[in-house]
Amino acid sequence: MSTLDELKARCTSSFEQRFGASPSALGLAPARVELLGNHTDYNGGLVMAAAIDRFTLAAGRPVSTSSCRIHAVNYADDTEFSLRSIQRGEDGDWPNYVKGVVWAIQDAEGPELVSGFEMAVLGDVPLGAGLSSSASLEAAVGFFLLQAGLIQGRDGKRLGTDLSDATRMAFAKILRRSENAFVGVASGLLDQFSSLFGRADHAVYLDCRTLDHARVPLGDPGPAIVVCDSKTSRRLADGMYNRRRAECETVVTYFQSRGAESVTSLRDIELSQVEEHWDRLDPLGRKRARHVLTENDRVTRGVAALRAGDLEEFGRLMSASHASSRDDFENSSPALNALVEAAEAAPGFLGGKLSGAGWAGCSVNLVRSDQAGPFAESVRSAYSRATGVTPDIHVCHAADGARGLALA
Ligand code: GLA
Repeated sequence: MSTLDELKARCTSSFEQRFGASPSALGLAPARVELLGNHTDYNGGLVMAAAIDRFTLAAGRPVSTSSCRIHAVNYADDTEFSLRSIQRGEDGDWPNYVKGVVWAIQDAEGPELVSGFEMAVLGDVPLGAGLSSSASLEAAVGFFLLQAGLIQGRDGKRLGTDLSDATRMAFAKILRRSENAFVGVASGLLDQFSSLFGRADHAVYLDCRTLDHARVPLGDPGPAIVVCDSKTSRRLADGMYNRRRAECETVVTYFQSRGAESVTSLRDIELSQVEEHWDRLDPLGRKRARHVLTENDRVTRGVAALRAGDLEEFGRLMSASHASSRDDFENSSPALNALVEAAEAAPGFLGGKLSGAGWAGCSVNLVRSDQAGPFAESVRSAYSRATGVTPDIHVCHAADGARGLALA
């Protein structure tokens, strides 16, 4: 039995045990890694990511009342709320992510939920490791609701899971809104987009300003995507994330104050302008902007490299991205740098970088598929020698995006 089949069986049986009935629908959604474009998304920039074969699943069935009852298998915990009264819990409470999706769907123009539901959720996405376990939970819940026929559009028709790319994008934005406005985390669209648009052996590309997007083949056989967890805590990351957003903003404000009204984000500024005004720009803001603008360029070159079948070049761009995050965006850490250095010396390495917000959590590496085992061994021992900590290593592959399955 594949890991995914096992997860499906566990999710279904957990539902049955908890609610004493069979679930009729299941939503499942992958985690993601960011491959290129670090901290570009909220700067109107370009990003490349991949959905990976680590999943969150939500199995359940509609009920005839407005009550929503959820059992979280990983947490051995339950929550219950009414569609008509959705209260946010404490910061960091897992039910916020489920409630947020229900809240955001009903808050969006058009769709609404037709009734409450019972649902069990579980997953094998490492938590707090920078792999967007939260976006995969949101997307799994969203696709369960779609699959169960619980979401009704403005025209009175029930939405299903067979979504056009345009509707899929609109849904990704609703899920992002649940995280921004309900959970209270100011993340960009990258996470939800990747979880919804992923495809096996493909990277996904997104222009965060125009929402132009593409699925770009990683090759056949595709490389392994090896995620190495430094096992350092990400508690610091939230405050630093918002601080970096503000530092990027100083450069936008600078150009606006000089009459450049059309400048609304770093996307409207050229690297040459940053260099020209270097001495007058905020000393931190200008480095952050240089990182973001060179990242956008690396993404463009990365798409071209993959389309030309040049994985080596793509790997080099990933390593250059890490150097830029480390030196200009300053969101790496000694532990993440040690992980990336350990990877550089390991067999099959094509490229590697920190992933997601930074400061702690994981590195992501592109590795020749037949070398993934020796690569993992080599990084494990080199990082342990350098830091005294044994890293968790996850050998992953690019996976299909969020989807729904009928169970009954
Ligand atoms: C976090 C956020 C994303 C993105 C990355 C950095 O993962 O959730 O939206 O900003 O950081 O690229």
